[in-house]
Amino acid sequence: MTDGQRSPTSDGQIVVSGLTKQYKNVRAVNNLSFTVAPGRVTGFLGPNGAGKTTTLRMLLNLVTPTAGTATISGQRYADLSTPLRQVGAVLEASSAHKGRTGINHLRVICAAAGLPKQRADEALALVGLTPAAKRKFKGYSLGMKQRLGIAAAMLGDPRVLILDEPANGLDPEGIRWMRGFLKNLAHEGRTVLVSSHLLSEMQLLADDVVIIAAGQLVRQGPVDQVLGSMAQSARVRVRTPQAEVLAAALKAQSATIETDEQGVLLVAGVDAPTIGRSALAAGVELHELTTERPDLERVFLELTAGKAGIR
Ligand SMILES: Nc1ncnc2c1ncn2[C@@H]1O[C@H](COP(=O)(O)OP(=O)(O)OP(=O)(O)O)[C@@H](O)[C@H]1O
Ligand SMILES: [Mg+2]
Repeated sequence: MTDGQRSPTSDGQIVVSGLTKQYKNVRAVNNLSFTVAPGRVTGFLGPNGAGKTTTLRMLLNLVTPTAGTATISGQRYADLSTPLRQVGAVLEASSAHKGRTGINHLRVICAAAGLPKQRADEALALVGLTPAAKRKFKGYSLGMKQRLGIAAAMLGDPRVLILDEPANGLDPEGIRWMRGFLKNLAHEGRTVLVSSHLLSEMQLLADDVVIIAAGQLVRQGPVDQVLGSMAQSARVRVRTPQAEVLAAALKAQSATIETDEQGVLLVAGVDAPTIGRSALAAGVELHELTTERPDLERVFLELTAGKAGIR
């Protein structure tokens, strides 16, 4: 990073505190608080309608909060002295004048923002678009438009990057490129906040996750920790001819138990060795004892369901 002049508060941290947005009939974001650290990729996860875009738009001063605050490096976006040099944002597939070339699109932004013209070439190279520099925007594929949007966000060499569903519409190669690109930015010490509704994508990309549903925080923390705690909701399938005896023994250990149509016990809250020991102690015969590999996508849905995204 090229910077010796950042103020002491320019630490790249994002702090969201009690953030709320009430639209006429919808509380899009409801008393939301979380922090985003520099040097890491933070995945901002939630189902459709959870309030991700609204939160990011409040962070960028594009939507006025009903209550609460959102700061970047200790300041509200509106108070940043050189916003383009401090924060890069990619909110939707970039739009540009159709007849303008990619490089000219970036040069226009540089001129407006008082950035040196060569930043346009550098940013284009950064996203691998140099070969298409002189092609017109209207001929760009969706993936190329996404890259151009990222190039525009990178013009000011910002410390903080905020991206709303950047993988949308990208092919697998494009997604792989995006992942490497964002991880690299975090590696350089930048703050990378990226929203998604796909847990599987965030497992591969994020260091930290902030999960929201219905405008409220569900979980936040290092991805391994959050997914680990979600995985604890793994269940064990138990088949036994003495289901009632075993169920009583397990309930005494505060396991939760469901029974499927075939009479198989689905046990949560205790692990397979514990169940095996309980069965032995109770003299119960076991025909099956299988830990169901936790399907994180299912757990994510369970965590965020009931708080249906679409309101
Ligand atoms: N300008 C607006 N006026 C009224 N309601 C709005 C407005 N913008 C968003 N909403 C509502 O706020 C809620 C949150 O929307 P938001 O776009 O923030 O969700 P999201 O998490 O980004 O969803 P998605 O994954 O579909 O992009 C939704 O119920 C949406 O309909
Ligand atoms: Mg959105």
